[in-house]
Amino acid sequence: MSDDTTPTVRLNRFLAQSGIASRRGADTLIAEGRVRVDGVVAKPGTQVGPNAVVTVNGVAVEEERHVYLMMNKPEGFVTTLSDEKGRPTVMDLVDVTERVVPVGRLDAATSGLLLLMNDGALANGLAHPTHGVPKTYRVVVRGLPGPTAVRRLERGVELDDGKTQPAVVKVIGTRSGGAELEITIKEGRNRQVRRMCAEVGYPVHELERIAYGPLRLSRLQVGSCRALRPDEVEALREAVAGG
Ligand code: URA
Repeated sequence: MSDDTTPTVRLNRFLAQSGIASRRGADTLIAEGRVRVDGVVAKPGTQVGPNAVVTVNGVAVEEERHVYLMMNKPEGFVTTLSDEKGRPTVMDLVDVTERVVPVGRLDAATSGLLLLMNDGALANGLAHPTHGVPKTYRVVVRGLPGPTAVRRLERGVELDDGKTQPAVVKVIGTRSGGAELEITIKEGRNRQVRRMCAEVGYPVHELERIAYGPLRLSRLQVGSCRALRPDEVEALREAVAGG
């Protein structure tokens, strides 16, 4: 039983987070009278406290614990859950049993920081453009962009799906035949950094995400994952709330 001070969650959300059904599917189960909370047939809108016993068709449902991971995604892996071309997916590199999913996407050719979690509310908040959570990329481009190209990237570039929002661009140094930049954007459009750089005349040669909101990739080996610390999860929540 819960009292006024214990956090509760709406039953359809609880069932969805437990992997029983989508929220809409859970609404149907509830409407059909197949769900009980503490032995009582649930109604739409029923709230579930931390110690409630929820059953579906008489079988107890366990709430899935939230899992938050950071991966250093290798090149060549897709961030979709399956790939029609048979390419490896980032899910091949995850060894938790909980159903985590990637937050947003990275192109197959892009490496670096990828968050995965089974907390749908936080994942949606992070990926939603209205919260404007910044993402930083280390970008190696062909050619040496001068001040005009850098200013264009910073101010916004006209792409076929509209002008990009202002970006922060740092020129880190030169490479043979190219330059290394750090670009921070708050949007997450498809292939955005590649398209921005190509549009100003400097195609991307290498792309790696090195930061997502308050989190940096630091020394995580390519292809491995680690659990986020509670303070890191909290920092992500704050980044969403502040956006
Ligand atoms: N921008 C891109 O072009 N690709 C990514 O994977 C991420 C951002």
